[in-house]
Amino acid sequence: MSATDIARQVGEDCRTVPLAGHVGFDSLPDQLVNKSISQGFCFNILCVGETGLGKSTLMDTLFNTKFEGEPATHTQPGVQLQSNTYDLQESNVGLKLTVVSTVGFGDQINKEDSYKPVVEFIDAQFEAYLQEELKIRRVLHTYHDSRIHACLYFIAPTGHSLKSLDLVTMKKLDSKVNIIPIIAKSDAISKSELTKFKIKITSELVSNGVQIYQFPTDDESVAEINGTMNAHLPFAVIGSTEELKIGNKMMKARQYPWGTVQVENEAHCDFVKLREMLIRVNMEDLREQTHSRHYELYRRCKLEEMGFKDTDPDSKPFSLQETYEAKRNEFLGELQKKEEEMRQMFVQRVKEKEAELKEAEKELHEKFDRLKKLHQDEKKKLEDKKKSLEDEMNAFKQRKTAAELLQSQGSQAGSSQTLKRDKEKKNFF
Ligand code: GTP
Ligand code: MG
Repeated sequence: MSATDIARQVGEDCRTVPLAGHVGFDSLPDQLVNKSISQGFCFNILCVGETGLGKSTLMDTLFNTKFEGEPATHTQPGVQLQSNTYDLQESNVGLKLTVVSTVGFGDQINKEDSYKPVVEFIDAQFEAYLQEELKIRRVLHTYHDSRIHACLYFIAPTGHSLKSLDLVTMKKLDSKVNIIPIIAKSDAISKSELTKFKIKITSELVSNGVQIYQFPTDDESVAEINGTMNAHLPFAVIGSTEELKIGNKMMKARQYPWGTVQVENEAHCDFVKLREMLIRVNMEDLREQTHSRHYELYRRCKLEEMGFKDTDPDSKPFSLQETYEAKRNEFLGELQKKEEEMRQMFVQRVKEKEAELKEAEKELHEKFDRLKKLHQDEKKKLEDKKKSLEDEMNAFKQRKTAAELLQSQGSQAGSSQTLKRDKEKKNFF
């Protein structure tokens, strides 16, 4: 039975009964408030805008303090994001505020990829939260949630139309974050031009399908003010932390040779409207929308990408367990297939190697036979030669013996002749 079925059944069986006296569960909202106060709140703002458009000054003005931060140079090779977290305290409410600012945005000649680091940063915060959520031992109540709750998009006070960079970036961000577009340094633009500029920006956002954050009008207590403020978007703001004495009050203002612009004067700019909407009325809604809309979308896409789904192809509910088992089986099947492929490959390789070895063996045998035959021929030739030499030697020996014989016979005949002559000589004398 699904959770909705159970809820429906409980709803059907539920009766309203009166209480005879005070029970105390009417203090639940107070308990909730106390718990929230003791835990503290966290809010993360992303300021996207070209270098020097007044991002840091506006943050200082909004939170009435001086945050750290050095001005960026205009020579950044790419867009980076700089994040700083601060602990703020107002009355008994603690706020962990993270201000993330783009560095080098709009400074490159080729701005095609300028939106990417911003998108990646937002996704990285969602991913970190998802990883924490998926942990077995998760500690979400102490986890520092770094997901971006509001993106203040700083538009340059050109008085013309939006730049392509602005449109592309806002389009890429609108499904990931609550975008509040603001016209920065609006003291640089005249009143009549500002009205036209706002209309132009709104129509360009609509025609390009850019979804900006709408202040919610479903809660009656804030529906009216939020409805009115939606019509004032984009807010034209001025930032300054300089306090000047105007009348007998100290006010945040910017002083020029020709006069003074008061930041908190609604006739001069929309700063008060922005502060009211961003901090005083809709901070909780921005946090809520981030979790229920933008993070939910990221989580859904990510889990679907990983193969998780709520229903099977026949639209029947498909539990996490079933998904896990299906994935496991799919994985095991793939593993088996891979194993079989590897085995086949191994057998094939062994066969090839065997054939190669056989071929090499055959070649060796042939070579051996050739060499053997060559050797036999050589041997035969040598034996023939030896034989002919022996024959020659024998013939020579025979000739030698004959010659010796002849010689000895010759010498014998010679000595008997000498004896005969000696005898004749003796007889003569
Ligand atoms: P990087 O961090 O370097 O990108 O700049 P940034 O966008 O943070 O701008 P920053 O707040 O450092 O302001 C840049 C300059 O603009 C400073 O000289 C500010 O005094 C001036 N400035 C800020 N806000 C306004 C404004 O509303 N109007 C005018 N005219 N100047 C402003
Ligand atoms: Mg700055």
